[in-house]
Amino acid sequence: MIPIESDTLNIMIRAAARAGHSLVHDFAQAESLLVSLKNPRDFVTAADRRAEEIVYDELTKARPNYGFLGEEVGWHPGTDEAHRWIVDPLDGTTNFLHQITHFAVAISLEQNGVPVAAVVYNPVHDEMFIAERGKGAFVNDKRIFVNKRTLLAEAIVACGLPHRGRGDLGLARREIAAVQEHFAGLRRFGSAALDLAWIAAGRFDAYWQRNLSPWDLSAGILLVSEAGGIVTDLTGNQDTILKRGEIVAGNEVMHRELLKLLEEASQSRYSE
Ligand code: IPD
Ligand code: CA
Ligand code: CA
Repeated sequence: MIPIESDTLNIMIRAAARAGHSLVHDFAQAESLLVSLKNPRDFVTAADRRAEEIVYDELTKARPNYGFLGEEVGWHPGTDEAHRWIVDPLDGTTNFLHQITHFAVAISLEQNGVPVAAVVYNPVHDEMFIAERGKGAFVNDKRIFVNKRTLLAEAIVACGLPHRGRGDLGLARREIAAVQEHFAGLRRFGSAALDLAWIAAGRFDAYWQRNLSPWDLSAGILLVSEAGGIVTDLTGNQDTILKRGEIVAGNEVMHRELLKLLEEASQSRYSE
């Protein structure tokens, strides 16, 4: 039994659970295989593709007319132009590759460009984060809310860092320095979808990251808003998060304060 009665969520949960099962199987195999493999990334890519195939089959079987945007298969338009699935079959690939159990299947359903249902599933810890627009956010059968904390000195901030050789390292360093000066601590756990799910569950107090894709973000955006949080891009706008591929999230106070610090950090490059 899921806490929200919803055919759509049932479909999404089933797809995430089946894909998660496949990932866990491959994750266990990987433990003995990865050290001996010449190119371990190929094994992870195969696991990733298998998971996406499962999600694709489940979702398109249930809703054959919807569009499907998946990280691996790309964009498959449907005849129903109002609806599209957005899927990251394995968010946290690097963790998976390193036998770190922090990864997830992320699925969201958009209606006319707005996320209306979301599932983020960590199959190793069997945590199914779900939300439907207007019906709240849950982990398994427990209702979740963003943290109420308002003191930055007690708050934990999650972030993503530029990958080696990519992104603006100087800017990332200024942002980190600004955040470290004011907040209690900083975390980089390696799965954007789970970072947002953990904001929704009140585990992290705030989160920001740049250079993300729609499949990293869409499900988490709905989880956070349904858990009472605020999500915007780094210009403070809600409608351009996916387009700009960047996000700031938290309760009202955390979101406002983090956004202010990030703005200052990004402007300080001109005063150096
Ligand atoms: C990555 C994770 C990671 C974020 C990267 C993403 P992937 O997704 O979400 O936390 O920092 O930018 O690309 O590649 O594991 O699906
Ligand atoms: Ca991802
Ligand atoms: Ca991925």
